[in-house]
Amino acid sequence: MTTAIADPVLEVHDLTVTYRQKPALWDIDFGIPQGVLVGVVGPNGAGKSTLIKAIMDLVPTASGYANCFGQSLDEVRQRVSYVPQRESVDWDFPASALDVVLMGRYGKRGLFRRLSNRDRRVARECLRTVGLEAFADRQIAQLSGGQQQRVFLARALAQEADLYLMDEPFAGVDAATERTTLELLGELRDQGKTIVVVHHDLQTAAEYFDWIVLLNTRLVAYGPKAEVFTPELLQETYGGSLTLLANVSELARKQNLPVRE
Ligand SMILES: Nc1ncnc2c1ncn2[C@@H]1O[C@H](COP(=O)(O)OP(=O)(O)O)[C@@H](O)[C@H]1O
Ligand SMILES: [Mg+2]
Repeated sequence: MTTAIADPVLEVHDLTVTYRQKPALWDIDFGIPQGVLVGVVGPNGAGKSTLIKAIMDLVPTASGYANCFGQSLDEVRQRVSYVPQRESVDWDFPASALDVVLMGRYGKRGLFRRLSNRDRRVARECLRTVGLEAFADRQIAQLSGGQQQRVFLARALAQEADLYLMDEPFAGVDAATERTTLELLGELRDQGKTIVVVHHDLQTAAEYFDWIVLLNTRLVAYGPKAEVFTPELLQETYGGSLTLLANVSELARKQNLPVRE
């Protein structure tokens, strides 16, 4: 499936990433238009995190490239916000919740410029938005997993970006964090922002996202969820994981999506 997207906010072209000569992503091509909430879905080891890291220039590419707003990341870095997978972060470094959120402001300031009162005000507002105002001075190591995830979200908001790339923000969080996150993502989308979220839970994928990218080392499909969230394409993505797939027709039906049988 290769729908041509006019003026994509994110464009990935012929992207291949290998780790020690083993491909993690193979010849990936897709584009994402402005103002959609996109789920990147696929089994464990499918290359979802690698895709986000390649877009952020955090892993070397064997071929191809990713563009944001029609430019290379370096030219538009401040407009792109990355929220890494929580487990990939060393939470022992000494910083308060507010310090972490303020990191979202440095790009605007330049690393060596002093933060302004407005920066601090915005950072506190973002903490309030995620329900953590009272935890501003708490060391992040002392926060729960869900609270840490919300601090990350607040940092991303503080950056006031136009494209958000988030790796598994719903993994292992409490119900309140899940709800807050989902609401925020919807608000960002309604403001015309573009949000790309790695998500491994099929049960909620079609409910949460407007668009879906199905990935398993290769790109299986991408597009509006009604076109992509079909039993055939999910089967192609998940292969032999049949226990999981037993429910796929049911899932698609629940979402009132077209089911081809
Ligand atoms: N730094 C790395 N070095 C070697 N192999 C890696 C590295 N990171 C990921 N991989 C491998 O690349 C594949 C894709 O990983 P990843 O992008 O993390 O998948 P996902 O996020 O979909 O679970 C997996 O087989 C994983 O083991
Ligand atoms: Mg991952």
